[in-house]
Amino acid sequence: MSASSATAPIQSAASDPYLIRIRDLVYKAAGIFQPDTKLRLLADRCGRRMKELEVKTLRDYMDRLTQPGAGRDEMVKLLNEVTIGETCFFRHQPQLEALKTIVWPRIIAARSEIRVRKLRIWSAGCSTGEEAYTLAMALLEESAGMFKGWTFEIQATDLNERSLEHAKAAIYGDYSVRNVTPHFRQKYFAPVDDKLQVSPAVRNLVSFSRLNLFDDTRMLFMKGMDLIFCANVLIYFDLSSKRRVIQHFYSNLQPHGYFFLGHSESLYGVCDQFKLVHFPSATAYVKVQPQSSGK
Ligand SMILES: C[S@@+](CC[C@H](N)C(=O)[O-])C[C@H]1O[C@@H](n2cnc3c(N)ncnc32)[C@H](O)[C@@H]1O
Repeated sequence: MSASSATAPIQSAASDPYLIRIRDLVYKAAGIFQPDTKLRLLADRCGRRMKELEVKTLRDYMDRLTQPGAGRDEMVKLLNEVTIGETCFFRHQPQLEALKTIVWPRIIAARSEIRVRKLRIWSAGCSTGEEAYTLAMALLEESAGMFKGWTFEIQATDLNERSLEHAKAAIYGDYSVRNVTPHFRQKYFAPVDDKLQVSPAVRNLVSFSRLNLFDDTRMLFMKGMDLIFCANVLIYFDLSSKRRVIQHFYSNLQPHGYFFLGHSESLYGVCDQFKLVHFPSATAYVKVQPQSSGK
């Protein structure tokens, strides 16, 4: 088959009205919006599922997605195909520097009035786990220093089941570990065949689970976080999806907590309940306290 004849069905699928309806279902299920320029990609991803199910037309596939019960399971599988999980260890070093030098000391100071010495972190949209494990390693580096006597809990969540399986296995190739320094490689990784596996000491700090950021009920159960990371996730959302999800992050963050986005993202025009704070080459958000607002 020539390249052009191979792509022809996808091109025509991109203008199929049932694809538009599937796009709406994906948006309703997970907040992920596929603009017209991405319709061919969506058609390709649906095509993968249709091949597996031996379904011939987008209309039949849409019927499958809307079947009571089975439709929900199929949507989970389609979302596994649709989501993009680009990530790596130590993705944004200035964020880690800001944590170590500014954010963690401030949280420790804020917590000095409370007896509980437990730091709770949420990596929302963790993909294959590199972000959560990076945070765990950074904490372990401080466990004999500023965090002496503290315990850590990192909850890492994502929509994509396959990414979560990878995260739990914690085995990574060269591309994922390209930013890992020799110090961290030696201390926190062990070779497995031609790859590296994260050590049990790091893995024990992180628990992975499937959570759709669009699931309002589940989002209510993520309270009391000192730090929330939602990096490079909301770029796939439109404004109203962003607002809905950010509202949950706001309620789930402790008053002294910090919220981090990806380094090219911002809440500008999305939410004014957070205040932007600047660090060298990085930014984060803190809650605007009601008594300080408007001053
Ligand atoms: C580009 S990765 C970001 C990974 C990591 N946070 C980082 O910055 O390196 C985006 C992740 O967001 C997840 N995602 C997208 N929509 C989601 C939703 N509605 N609920 C939960 N996770 C979602 C995707 O499955 C994907 O793994």
